Amino acid sequence: MARYAHIIGWGKFVPPNILTNEDLAKTVDTTDQWIRERTGIAARHIASAKETTAIMAVHAARDAIEVADVNPAEIDLVIVATATPEYPFPATACLVQDALGAERAGAFDLEAGCSGFMYALTAATGFIRSGIYNTIVVIGSETLSRVVDWNDRATCVLFGDGAGAFVLRGSDEPGGVLASILGSDGSGGELLMVPAGGSKHPAGPETVLSKMHTIKMNGREVYRFATRVMASASRQVAESAGWSLDQIDLFIPHQANVRIIDSAARALKLPPDKVFVNLERYGNTSAASIPIAVCEAIDSGKIKAGDHLVMVGFGAGLTWASCAIQWSAPKPGVIAPPRAAVSRLRYGWSSIKSIGSRLSRRVDAAVSQLIDTLERKTPEE
Ligand code: UT7
Repeated sequence: MARYAHIIGWGKFVPPNILTNEDLAKTVDTTDQWIRERTGIAARHIASAKETTAIMAVHAARDAIEVADVNPAEIDLVIVATATPEYPFPATACLVQDALGAERAGAFDLEAGCSGFMYALTAATGFIRSGIYNTIVVIGSETLSRVVDWNDRATCVLFGDGAGAFVLRGSDEPGGVLASILGSDGSGGELLMVPAGGSKHPAGPETVLSKMHTIKMNGREVYRFATRVMASASRQVAESAGWSLDQIDLFIPHQANVRIIDSAARALKLPPDKVFVNLERYGNTSAASIPIAVCEAIDSGKIKAGDHLVMVGFGAGLTWASCAIQWSAPKPGVIAPPRAAVSRLRYGWSSIKSIGSRLSRRVDAAVSQLIDTLERKTPEE
C-alpha cells in the first residue's frame, strides 16, 4: 500500500524585536524608499542574544506539535534546515530533540541555504513514503542577523531572523507532499557565501578582521539565477504532481525579493491572489521563510483542505527546490487550555530529565575516574 506524507501540524516563531527600514537608514547609507522599491521589504525581526537558532526552532516546533496533537515520544526524526546553526557541531537538531523531549527521535541538520526547508521536507517525505519513519518534525530556523555585515548596505537590509516548523505523519490516504524537485549548481557557490568558519578558513584574527564571517553576495547574479529557476522548478513540480498551472490554488515562494516573486508569478501566469507574499514584515529569513509564510497563509484563511500548493525556494549553493502539496489538514481549533497545560508539564518534565541525564553522566564520569585512581594506587597482590 502506498504511503503518503501529510502535514498535520505547523508553527512559527519570530523574535519580538523589529528593525524598520528607517532604523537602518540611521546607520547605513540607504533609504526606506530604496529598500521598499528594490526589494519590497519594510521591516525585519532581529533575535536578541538569548534568541538563538535552536531556541527559535524549539518555539516553532512546540507550536507545530501542539497543532498536530502529537506526543513528542512518538516523533521518529527531527530535521533542522539552517545555514546559521547553533554550533559547527553538535547539530542544532539534537538540541531541539532534547528540548522537545523527543526521546526516540534521530536528529540531523540540513544545509541547503534558503532552499533548506524544501530539501528537509523532501527528505522527510522520503523517510515516510519508504516506510522507514512515520512522524517527523521539519524545522527551518535562522539567525541571519549574526552573520550579516551591518555596514554592507547591499546585504544588511535584506535579511531577518525567525523559525517555522511542520509535523509530518504517514498515512495511506492520498495527499500531502506529492512531488519534489531538488536542484543545485555548485559553480555558483561563491555568489552567496560566508567564507570563513569552516575547514577552508578556520576562525582566526585575520578572518575576523577581514569580516570573512559575514555574508558576501553578488546580488545581481543571484537575482538573475533566482528569476530563472523559480518558475521552471515550480512548473516541473506541478507537472510531476499531475497538475496544470491553473490548478495551483496558492503559490508560496521563498520570500527574498518581491520583484523575484512577481517575475516568477508572471511566468507561471498566476494572478496576485494566488501568490503569498509576507516579506514586507520579515525580510529574507532564508530556510525559515516558507514555513513562516505557510503559517500566516493558514491564519489568514488562504489555505484550506484539498488545496493544491506549490512552494519553491532558491539560495546559496546555488540550490533550488520545490514541493507540490495537496493540503490535507483541517484548520485546527483553538488549543484547549488543559492540553496546553499538559504540554507545558511535559516540556518541564523533559527538561528536568535532560538535566538529570547530564548530571548522571558527570557523576558517572567522576566515579569511574575515582575507581581508576584507586585501582592504580592499590598494589597488585
Ligand atoms: O535567498 C537568496 C538571497 N539573496 C537574494 O535573494 C538576492 C537577490 N538579489 C536582489 O534581491 C537584488 O539584486 C538586490 C536587492 C540585492 C539589489 O537590487 P538591484 O536592483 O540588483 O541593485 P544593484 O545591486 O544593481 O544596485 C543598484 C544601486 C547600486 O548603486 P550604483 O552602483 O548604481 O551607484 C548600489 O550601490 O543601488 C545601490 N544600493 C543601494 N542603495 C541604497 C545597493 N544597496 C543599496 C541600499 N540602499 N541598501
